[in-house]
Amino acid sequence: MKLILASNNAKKLKELKAILSDMDIELCSQKEAGCDFEVEETGTTFDENAYLKAAAVVAATGIAAIADDSGLMVDALNGEPGVYSARYAPGGHEASDREKYEYLLKKLEGVDDRSARFVSSICCIFPNGDIIRSMGKCEGEILRSPRGEGGFGYDPVFMPSGYEKSMAELGTEVKNRISHRANALKDFKKKLREYNGIDK
Ligand code: IMP
Repeated sequence: MKLILASNNAKKLKELKAILSDMDIELCSQKEAGCDFEVEETGTTFDENAYLKAAAVVAATGIAAIADDSGLMVDALNGEPGVYSARYAPGGHEASDREKYEYLLKKLEGVDDRSARFVSSICCIFPNGDIIRSMGKCEGEILRSPRGEGGFGYDPVFMPSGYEKSMAELGTEVKNRISHRANALKDFKKKLREYNGIDK
């Protein structure tokens, strides 16, 4: 089946493609599907924003669309940056990944409680209006300084629980096995198989 990823983030597309590679899915980017727009994330929850993104793309194309709305929740910051993860630094959406995680590290200067989690909300909408939703998390802690070059976003400053390396140091194979996105997509794959009448 053909699915369009409602996102303009090339690194997210790469991760979704790898994680969904064992399914019979042809995953295309929003751009490949001719959707030259950025959906405004006006929701206050990951679930709402994932729905808004998938709904806009399925409405524009008539083809099933999947969206991942994700972010980092830091306990000492009462869950921030949360849904604002992509625009969490002076400069908003224009800020680079590095500026965002440096801003986060500054906010956490002198803070001992480093506990945090990545969260991913997946929403897949079919042209007939059917919806599949899934949620995944990855627990961990915020490092004192960045480590590693892999992944994207806050990966250099996030160390998953049970590991001694940052998400950016762990590499693609490990990240795509343990990440919030991997956990959400594991549940999504199960629900999609059931939806398609397989694994009933
Ligand atoms: P959105 O889901 O496109 O609204 O953006 C989510 C933002 O959260 C990204 O721009 C990153 O800053 C952050 N984020 C989401 N997933 C990851 C991840 O796997 N690693 C690091 N940062 C992430």
